[in-house]
Amino acid sequence: MTPDFSSCTFHVITYGCQMNKHDSERICGMLELCGATEVTSIEAADIVVFMTCCVREAADVRLYGQVASIKNVPLRQGSPLTKRIIAIGGCIGQRDGAELVRKMHHVDVVFGTFNLGMLPALISDAINKAASQVAILEAGEEFPTCLPTVREHAWAAWLPIMIGCNNFCTYCIVPYVRGREKSRTMEDILEEARRYKDEGVLELTLLGQNVNSYGRDLFSEPRFAELLHKVDDLGFARLRFATSHPKDISDAVIEAFGTCESLMPALHLPVQSGSNEILRKMNRGYTRDKYLATVEKLRAVRPDIALSTDLIVGFPGETEEDFQQTLDIVREVGYQQVFTFIYSRREGTPAAKLPANATDEEIQDRFDRLVAVVEDCAKHANDADFDTTVPVLFEGVSKKDGNVLTGHSAKNQTVHVALPEGRSADDYLGRILPVHVTRAKTWYLFGEFA
Ligand code: SAH
Ligand code: SF4
Ligand code: F3S
Repeated sequence: MTPDFSSCTFHVITYGCQMNKHDSERICGMLELCGATEVTSIEAADIVVFMTCCVREAADVRLYGQVASIKNVPLRQGSPLTKRIIAIGGCIGQRDGAELVRKMHHVDVVFGTFNLGMLPALISDAINKAASQVAILEAGEEFPTCLPTVREHAWAAWLPIMIGCNNFCTYCIVPYVRGREKSRTMEDILEEARRYKDEGVLELTLLGQNVNSYGRDLFSEPRFAELLHKVDDLGFARLRFATSHPKDISDAVIEAFGTCESLMPALHLPVQSGSNEILRKMNRGYTRDKYLATVEKLRAVRPDIALSTDLIVGFPGETEEDFQQTLDIVREVGYQQVFTFIYSRREGTPAAKLPANATDEEIQDRFDRLVAVVEDCAKHANDADFDTTVPVLFEGVSKKDGNVLTGHSAKNQTVHVALPEGRSADDYLGRILPVHVTRAKTWYLFGEFA
């Protein structure tokens, strides 16, 4: 039975990756279905849901701090509840379970990554029984596809095609909190995609921790390329996917960048390190040369493809020489965008047992040097688009200036354009329009309507 929260307000705070962001959309969908109204602050909310991430230590610490501080925020006047309901889900929920309630007595609900669908019932029980509810499953029985979603933008949608990860990179907690790879059936995915197409979605992003192995559990071989072609046939204006593990990207997926009309020329291909020794210790399953060969193949198929990546600095045992190899691969590939992380020790992962050999200062120094090289590359990549015309999907106005429209190019660059005089931003949002690039900066482009 659907609980009735019709006079309640709720607010969802999301950390972490797109998987969590998408799970939050499903939570909003479910709570709205129960009659609750979404609000944008903790103060105004009767129910606060934290969707948490534990991929690095900083996210952990922040969550505990934020949940502790909420205790002193008074419940809004007119709330039908006697106490604000605090629910914690996502990857820390999965990992820590009842421990969260033991450490923070004012937490009412803890749920995990496999039982999103139980959240309304858990909240309802917490209210009616005035006692904390903890429910964590060890694995997913079925894919939570029937859950409704509320999307941030009408014209963009994320579609999870699989959950979990089998790769066990030695530094990473994700396989322990998201479980093993489980693919959705193609029919199920295509049906949801068709629904989005009918609703007017322009940009569809297929999601998974490693989309390249999509279907391995269903068909005993990966069938991601086939899925890409089938989704491409639906005729979205833009198709993207994330994340793609370099060891598993097949030639058929690479070729799809040349044959799938809707597939955008942008790919996130996390390399993590440029050193073979470190890649081996990370259990990444490829060498530097193999990665570079993949990049070469991609560029042969799609010369304008924009590549982005993730890099970890300070993995246990990383020497200055290993680090130089990382700087080197960044320069060699010429990434459009790089997400840089300092290695964070995660209890329970194999790398947590390895001794650190560099000091925090040395690692911070490497990180700063890496960021300088990354910025150089990003600027160089954006410079290539100066004085050209790029298609931009407009998504909103700039946070700093309401008279500046922002959107993303096909290559996923952020693009700003001044709002033409006498026009409203609403005339542009959710449309793909050509923009002439008049300025290229490190992290964005500036242009005029062509
Ligand atoms: N499935 C995705 C990554 C998910 S986590 C993939 O394989 O690409 C996102 C990024 O966080 C990773 O690519 C990695 O760069 C970083 N990361 C994961 N664990 C980390 C750790 N313990 N310390 C620092 N960064 C980490
Ligand atoms: Fe983590 Fe590696 Fe799986 Fe990515 S592929 S989620 S980095 S274990
Ligand atoms: Fe974080 Fe969980 Fe994603 S640990 S990165 S939210 S899968």
